[in-house]
Amino acid sequence: MFARLRPYFRYLQPQRGLLGLAIFCGIIAGVASGFGLPYMVKQVFPAIFAEGALPLAPWELAKVVLWIPAVFLLRGVAGYFNTYLLQLVGTRVLEALRLDFFRKLQVLPLSFFQRNSTGDLLSRGLADANQLQVTLTTVANEIVRSPATLIGALGAVIWTAYTANGGMLVLVSLGTVPLAVIPIRYIGKKLIKRAGQIQAELGAVTSVLSENLTATKEVRAFNLEEREVGRFHRASQTLIRAQMKFMKYEKALTPLIEIISASGIAFTLYYAYKVRLDVNVFITLITAIYAGYEPIKKLGSLNNEMKRGMGALDRLEAVLNAPLSIEDRPAAKPLPRARGDLAFENVTFSYQAGELVLLELQQRIPAGTVCALVGPSGAGKSTFANLVPRFFDPTAGRVTLDGHDLRDIRLADLRRNIAIVPQDPVLFNDTVRENLRIARPEAKPAEVEEAARAAFAHDFILSLPQGYDTMVGERGARLSGGQKQRLALARAFLRNAPVLILDEATSALDSESEAAIQQALKQLVVGKTVLIIAHRFSTIRDASLILVFDRGEIVARGTHAELHAGNPLYRSLYDRQQGS
Ligand SMILES: Nc1ncnc2c1ncn2[C@@H]1O[C@H](COP(=O)(O)OP(=O)(O)OP(=O)(O)O)[C@@H](O)[C@H]1O
Ligand SMILES: [Mg+2]
Repeated sequence: MFARLRPYFRYLQPQRGLLGLAIFCGIIAGVASGFGLPYMVKQVFPAIFAEGALPLAPWELAKVVLWIPAVFLLRGVAGYFNTYLLQLVGTRVLEALRLDFFRKLQVLPLSFFQRNSTGDLLSRGLADANQLQVTLTTVANEIVRSPATLIGALGAVIWTAYTANGGMLVLVSLGTVPLAVIPIRYIGKKLIKRAGQIQAELGAVTSVLSENLTATKEVRAFNLEEREVGRFHRASQTLIRAQMKFMKYEKALTPLIEIISASGIAFTLYYAYKVRLDVNVFITLITAIYAGYEPIKKLGSLNNEMKRGMGALDRLEAVLNAPLSIEDRPAAKPLPRARGDLAFENVTFSYQAGELVLLELQQRIPAGTVCALVGPSGAGKSTFANLVPRFFDPTAGRVTLDGHDLRDIRLADLRRNIAIVPQDPVLFNDTVRENLRIARPEAKPAEVEEAARAAFAHDFILSLPQGYDTMVGERGARLSGGQKQRLALARAFLRNAPVLILDEATSALDSESEAAIQQALKQLVVGKTVLIIAHRFSTIRDASLILVFDRGEIVARGTHAELHAGNPLYRSLYDRQQGS
């Protein structure tokens, strides 16, 4: 178990002062309960109840009974600081871990998010992290105190029994203790599998929920209400079944250990009668035995809690240790500002092994070219464009910018040299201004406004209730599709990068915004290397280079005039566009 946790000890490093203090308090608290309580009984009861005890003066009597609050005071204060400090350490460790989880999500390759559902990842970041926090604080609470209590209590049993009656009574009193290990081990084994299962099912429930929340329109439009409720109900029932299987075993632990400890006490009582043990000794002994089973019970539950924590940790680690297939090479070069010469050299790409999406593409796109990608749906146009900002890396071959393999350029520099206008741009739930400024955080207000004007967005922005300070809603929900597109264009103007990638929207804009966007685009592309996935014939016709994609290959290249005359696929695509 500890070997498994070794990688996380570094999180404890900054907290080691607090941790040391907490452990010290835990030992004090443990000894105060395990040894202190029986010792107190031994001090107090004989003085008061023993036959032939001397009459006590009031102050002597007070001294005797004050043992009781004194022991509890020590136990209480040390226990409080032990708990508080360990909770503090546990919470800080978890905060660091959760932050690392989130940091990792920022740099994982896009392919990771296509393999893992958003809901499941949400659940890992929230539910699993939370479970781990519960585990960590529960474990922290007991990991020092319980063993200290146990050792203290065993010490008290041995000492009391040995001084009263010798080794045999020690054996009788402690005889049943080893039996307690049996249920702890058995239950622990049963739980280890089920703990991970609970967390996975929790992830499944979150997946259904999060998917449902992103499809609110579809649910209503297609009358999916019943289907969705059914899906959620089934996921939630599976979760409950997994939880109940866990509970079935987990909750058996305390009663089992209590039965064992009761047998131990009965056994001791039997023997005590035989050897005519003094009642005061017997009470001390029972107190010590009882004080000893308490930490055993706690350590057993702790074992269970650890199993849950390990299940959660496994799921967090799947993210924390996921390979970063797209990251800086150690020798990656800085690239201040690119000229914009792109070249695809023998580029082959597949999303899944065996399914080739791009086949040995050879293509130079010199700086300043406006290059339109056309072709049937699924031909590989978006995939081709996604290789440039390294959303994916080629399976074979290489893509170069200004002659450097993209993988040799520092990723942040590469991406700083690229502006992307996606088909369906996403806005953050922030003001219009902040949404534009993400393209260039140091931009002055005048520059932001200039970019908005260039993208024909300025006027509509001013007509919003708070102008540039209007909140746009989650993912930009309060704006229209065309407005979002113009903000995305404004971002590209503001970024002013030498390479521009546009996934042209097919959505029908009204002809006025369509004309405005066309005009904005014409300005935007000047002097840049542009990859444009073109659906509008006006864009296609104006491009200086057109690449015709078909089933992962570039089947023709040239200008509009050349292709229209010489390529039947292009002609049919183009004529269909124009017809619509
Ligand atoms: N993430 C993915 N995982 C697996 N296969 C994918 C993935 N994305 C795309 N594909 C497949 O790769 C092929 C090329 O897809 P791509 O998105 O590049 O086509 P496209 O030319 O942009 O089409 P469209 O004009 O419809 O946007 C398609 O067959 C598609 O099914
Ligand atoms: Mg596409």
